[in-house]
Amino acid sequence: MRVLICHDAGAAARRTADILCDAVAARPAAVLGLATGGTMEPVYAVLRDRLADGSLDLTATTTFNLDEYVGLQGDHPQSYRATMDRLLFDAAGLPRDRTHLPDGAAPDVAAEAVRYDAAIAAAGGIDLQLLGIGGNGHIGFNEPTSSLGSRTRVKTLTAETRNANARFFGTDEAAPRFAITMGIATILESRACVLLATGPGKAAAIAAAIEGPLSAACPASALQLHPNATMVLDPAAAADLRLRDYYETVHPGGGEALL
Ligand code: GLP
Repeated sequence: MRVLICHDAGAAARRTADILCDAVAARPAAVLGLATGGTMEPVYAVLRDRLADGSLDLTATTTFNLDEYVGLQGDHPQSYRATMDRLLFDAAGLPRDRTHLPDGAAPDVAAEAVRYDAAIAAAGGIDLQLLGIGGNGHIGFNEPTSSLGSRTRVKTLTAETRNANARFFGTDEAAPRFAITMGIATILESRACVLLATGPGKAAAIAAAIEGPLSAACPASALQLHPNATMVLDPAAAADLRLRDYYETVHPGGGEALL
């Protein structure tokens, strides 16, 4: 696992955007796994700037988002479909049928989850998966105690996650209780993954994910099994790491390893 501790949250977002841009430069038809959440918004802002100045071209890529709320139509402003249209897809110019999210409004959401895993496989698998992390260690919407062997499926959200996401919904509107999420095994099949975490609210989850035991109690700890996982952190999210000095020695300023 590569642990990159950047100078601040802005630098961490740019580092994450750089990793995605490098993957697309290496393979213009890359299959990208994308993530939502407030942490990702500055990453998409960087990508929109690069699309606008012509230094990034996403038109040949295919994308698969991690998750979607159950019960929200794609045109609901807080659906992850609408969020991704707003944050990236409208600016990216790739055909809509190559931007995939689970359909949270499907009549049979269990079947939709199975279909989604099959669609990822049919696209050849994910080259690079972006991830955030919940304060409780979730990735996608794989809440604590999610099977480390799980596939894409419906999950019930914890009260903590619902409260954290309530800020995106109107006061007269309940935050959704269920989501379709890629499973942990689905995420582990990506050929590379990059998790971005910023702010003090993520410090405990990051310490558990990187240095804690491999455990379904912290779903992000499953990334310890991934052969090509990168954790991009700001100093606040890195604050509880016992081996922080070591990570900073290997990757000064969150840069490439000095060999
Ligand atoms: C959300 C998403 C995750 C995201 C996480 C953290 O509920 N399903 O993909 O990583 O929670 O969100 P934020 O970045 O807003 O803290």
